[in-house]
Amino acid sequence: MRILLTGASGLLGRYFFEFNPDRRKHLITGTSCRQHPGGLFAGGLDVCLPIPFENKSGYARLLDEIRPDVIVNAGSDGSVDSVQQNPESGRYINYEFPLFLSAESEKRGSLFVHFSSNAVYDGEHAPYSELSPQNPVNTYGELKKMTDLEIKKSTGKWIITRPIVAYGWNFLFGRKNPVTQFLPMMIAGKRIKLVTDQIENPVYAGDVAKILWKCISSGFTGELNIAGGDTGVTRYDWIKKAGMVFGVDTTTISAARMDDFKSMAPRPRDTRFDISKLRGVLGFNPLTVEQGAQAMLEDGLRPDIIGMKNGI
Ligand SMILES: NC(=O)c1ccc[n+]([C@@H]2O[C@H](COP(=O)([O-])OP(=O)(O)OC[C@H]3O[C@@H](n4cnc5c(N)ncnc54)[C@H](OP(=O)(O)O)[C@@H]3O)[C@@H](O)[C@H]2O)c1
Repeated sequence: MRILLTGASGLLGRYFFEFNPDRRKHLITGTSCRQHPGGLFAGGLDVCLPIPFENKSGYARLLDEIRPDVIVNAGSDGSVDSVQQNPESGRYINYEFPLFLSAESEKRGSLFVHFSSNAVYDGEHAPYSELSPQNPVNTYGELKKMTDLEIKKSTGKWIITRPIVAYGWNFLFGRKNPVTQFLPMMIAGKRIKLVTDQIENPVYAGDVAKILWKCISSGFTGELNIAGGDTGVTRYDWIKKAGMVFGVDTTTISAARMDDFKSMAPRPRDTRFDISKLRGVLGFNPLTVEQGAQAMLEDGLRPDIIGMKNGI
């Protein structure tokens, strides 16, 4: 298969190409926004080209050149706060560009794989399945909802994967997730405040990658909510559990409430997913946050994080 992967330097893009089940069979052309050192992409990726989404004609040329069977659109502005503060650029990156790729996929007969988000839900009616009403509380979620609606109108082949908050080893230059944000702070003995009133079932990025490859190889199309194996954990419990698996001191963590972080964009309170479809249709049982932290220790993607002690 020939695959175009946008967002190859991001967390989920990285795990997707690192978990390529057969490099001889699946040729992946990755793109990023900025230029990154080529050696980073040695595992599972044939090339990573820095092409900003703003350069649509560059993407049209690339599509002509590689004629992909599958387009995996893992690039986005994934920061809820950044999109809230910069709605115009957020709208282009997270709405207009994905619809351009969706239209190109339809025209060319490629499978389009898109990433939605748990931010499409209001956080007051968990657990959320693929059929739950979407009622976002911030601009990022609104743009994801609008994109989902438009992609569903396409007569081409599409998959909307909808991950809940994901964690794993981002590249050092990339956006951190709660595990890679707080682990170095725990190691450095810094005080950390984590909320006890935001609930999710976080998913290990390696599981997201395995699920995507399974969807693609099995011919799955449609929507899929993707979460981890816990029925629900608070940020506070999650990071404590992860810290204990990593063997670091978690006593610097104290409890907080979402109201303590008023400067941030509004967040839905409880977006736990109902993953019956993931388990039933795909036959996939995702890891819990403790199992996922253990998988991070073993997945071989650990960066050399300056200041990390205890063999991590
Ligand atoms: N991670 C999560 O917890 C989570 C949860 C729910 C949904 N999602 C969705 O899943 C998808 C992947 O998320 P992620 O967390 O893996 O992303 P990420 O780590 O934030 O990485 C973003 C990627 O997009 C690229 N990018 C950003 N702006 C671009 C632009 N203007 N032109 C071209 N490329 C651009 C970045 O390239 P550079 O590295 O060069 O900047 C990077 O490769 C996104 O759609 C996100 O909204 C993620």
